[in-house]
Amino acid sequence: MKIIWTEEKIHRVGGDIIAIPFRTGGENLAFETLDKSTRQGLSSLAEVEKFKGQEDRSLIWQGKLGGRAMRIMVLGVGKDELGPIVWRKAVAKATRHATAHRLRSIAVIVDAASNEEQINQIRWTTESLILAAYRFRKYKTKAGTQIPPKKGIVGVSRAACDAAQCRRAITKAKAAAAGVTLARDLVNEPANVLSPSELAERARALSAKKGLECTVLDEKEIRKQGMNLLLAVAAGSDREPRLIHLVYRPRNKPAASVALVGKGVTFDSGGLCVKPGKSMYSMKTDMAGAGVVLGVMSALKTLAPRVEVHAVIPATDNAIGPKATRPGDVIKSLSGLTVEVLNTDAEGRLILADALTYAEKLKPDVIIDHATLTGACLAALGAQRAGVFSSDSEVARKYFDAAEQAGELLWRLPLARELDQHIRSDVADIKNIGGQYGGAITAALFLKRFVKEIPWVHLDIAGPARLDKGTHLSPKGGSGFGVMTCLEYLANL
Ligand code: BES
Ligand code: ZN
Ligand code: ZN
Repeated sequence: MKIIWTEEKIHRVGGDIIAIPFRTGGENLAFETLDKSTRQGLSSLAEVEKFKGQEDRSLIWQGKLGGRAMRIMVLGVGKDELGPIVWRKAVAKATRHATAHRLRSIAVIVDAASNEEQINQIRWTTESLILAAYRFRKYKTKAGTQIPPKKGIVGVSRAACDAAQCRRAITKAKAAAAGVTLARDLVNEPANVLSPSELAERARALSAKKGLECTVLDEKEIRKQGMNLLLAVAAGSDREPRLIHLVYRPRNKPAASVALVGKGVTFDSGGLCVKPGKSMYSMKTDMAGAGVVLGVMSALKTLAPRVEVHAVIPATDNAIGPKATRPGDVIKSLSGLTVEVLNTDAEGRLILADALTYAEKLKPDVIIDHATLTGACLAALGAQRAGVFSSDSEVARKYFDAAEQAGELLWRLPLARELDQHIRSDVADIKNIGGQYGGAITAALFLKRFVKEIPWVHLDIAGPARLDKGTHLSPKGGSGFGVMTCLEYLANL
């Protein structure tokens, strides 16, 4: 969707539909203005519908305004402080309405009292319009019937406090939304197309476009480095693994350096410990961590954070073949620790272990990893929230602050020492599965063995990376969850 910013008076912003927010008990300038233009049409409708701005409720007025037939949608946003989640959802609902009615353009009026509020709402509006209009139709040979509007107009209920700042907010929001879109596209891409080498090619193309440095290690180089855990997971597939390393460098001396690591399992069959069909069908999404990292990297040129950012992606299939790793095999990791692979389906932690060691060698100030790591995390927190583990409470706090600003749901889980005994191995230093319970924790404890000194945050995104059911803001499939928070975190450093 093309986003246009306007400072025009409300009745002149255009659009086949104008969406305005309504806060319960608050000052609603946009509503009042349009109520006058519609000769109390809106307030009468609100009265009939007993609409007071309750969250999740909305009104639709249709008629002629300034000689033009059009619709006004009043979006209830509740009475609490207006944050990104409620706002984006409301705007997405309007976009959904516009889509269902085949409208070609949608205008959203930001109705805020302060400069800061206005900037935030402009940003959330832009993100929501773009994300709600997202579709993955690459492999559809026929045009769909539900076509989202092509044009989104962002307007304001009162004079913009600072037009340049508003424009800048839109540019940044577009870049962030494009990052989320890229992550969704990669997750939705079928595994027969998105092989490890194809993922690397896309990372390379992205780097060229966005001025990032890019190094890709092929199987030979991965072997030379000693990333044997990555090789062990890749062994069952005839598609070669890759280790992708991108770097973003700020113009000036970096304020800090961050390494982002993302699980890039292009298809997780479970390996010899094969998954049952109903757990396997969605496993093209097991590279969602890599998707988050690439989505973030794609936005950095525009967002220009002051920090140096490294992206490290171990990319491989987890397949079954004559050379596949067997349960019981012992592998020496890049770090030197030996690992007994007792379950070939716990492959994410194996490839991440080598990637984390690789990241440590870059000596960043912080390491952040994203991974669709455990079904146990889904069981613990549900499908909409990511589990967060961290060795450093200060970094974790900053990450939670960023998530709050970005409107993504996280929950901290403990690196519980009492479970550490469960990853002890009889024959090697550690094994890759824990006991019956606390699976998200034992997976995180496994990773912790490979991050020795550097503050580290691990996000288990097995739940929110993929939506089983579409929402107004995202159709079913890849969600791009994690991109927004990470960008916010980097911007705050
Ligand atoms: N990719 C899966 C985790 C997953 C499950 C992601 C569901 C998204 C949705 C991971 O590689 C895996 O299979 N984990 C196993 C670990 C177990 C064998 C210790 C799991 O969670 O069952
Ligand atoms: Zn697995
Ligand atoms: Zn996996």
